[in-house]
Amino acid sequence: AASPARPPVVWLHFQECTGCSEALLRASHPDIARLILDLVSLDYHETVMAAAGHQAEAALADTLKRHEGRFICVVEGGIPTKDGGVYCRIGGRTAMEILADVAPRSAAVIAIGNCAAFGGIQAARPNPTGAVGVRDLVADHSVVNVPGCPPNPVSFLGTVLHYLTFKRLPPTDHLGRPLFAYGRKIHDHCERRAHFDEGRFAEAFGDANHRRGYCLYKTGCKGPETYNSCPAVRFNDVGAWPVGVGHGCIGCSEPGFWDTMTPFYER
Ligand code: SF4
Ligand code: SF4
Ligand code: F3S
Repeated sequence: AASPARPPVVWLHFQECTGCSEALLRASHPDIARLILDLVSLDYHETVMAAAGHQAEAALADTLKRHEGRFICVVEGGIPTKDGGVYCRIGGRTAMEILADVAPRSAAVIAIGNCAAFGGIQAARPNPTGAVGVRDLVADHSVVNVPGCPPNPVSFLGTVLHYLTFKRLPPTDHLGRPLFAYGRKIHDHCERRAHFDEGRFAEAFGDANHRRGYCLYKTGCKGPETYNSCPAVRFNDVGAWPVGVGHGCIGCSEPGFWDTMTPFYER
């Protein structure tokens, strides 16, 4: 059962690939077991909850009733708005209806991933389902965006732990992204930056300069336009991040990156 120190979490899945949940399942600081068993009470999450069907929907209704105004709502996925929102339905309700029901009754909303924050790949042109991010629909509620595709679990966990510790969401930039994770550009703390400054570039994937670990700007790296913590935090203790393993940043924490950051590859 939830206690004040262990707030209930309702996790809504809309138009998404579950990559954000998958990344979080591999988190280690804290790991997912400690998060959902000790720190929060994960009352509803379609991927990891034991319940299914009517039982699952009953768990959601029960949490909303018992913990009105106290639970954290996490949203993973974009929300289709075209044609009355018919392109995503769960338990007979559209994603739009579910979000409109759940979000205003929560203490705060965390939009995890680029899909929930900005619409993600669903919203890429021509955006056939009219997908949008959470803030487009619940602008007047407390919503923090933790974008990325997927975001580093540390950014999400840091947001949750900040909320648990200080009882409020962390300070954010103008796009609602926590400054602790999205306050600096990739390019400003990239390990290849010295190569950029000295004009040493990989000209094509697989060339000698690529193998030497030179800057990836000429192959399409979007690090100079992207705010995220990847070079500093890396992913899940394996020490890897896109640029570190030789692939340019594609700007996955920026709004509309599927359109605005393309082409991802220049050579
Ligand atoms: Fe999947 Fe990326 Fe959307 Fe997360 S942000 S649900 S990883 S497509
Ligand atoms: Fe900047 Fe990308 Fe080059 Fe790193 S690899 S220095 S982020 S352009
Ligand atoms: Fe995304 Fe760029 Fe980091 S693609 S994971 S913001 S290096």
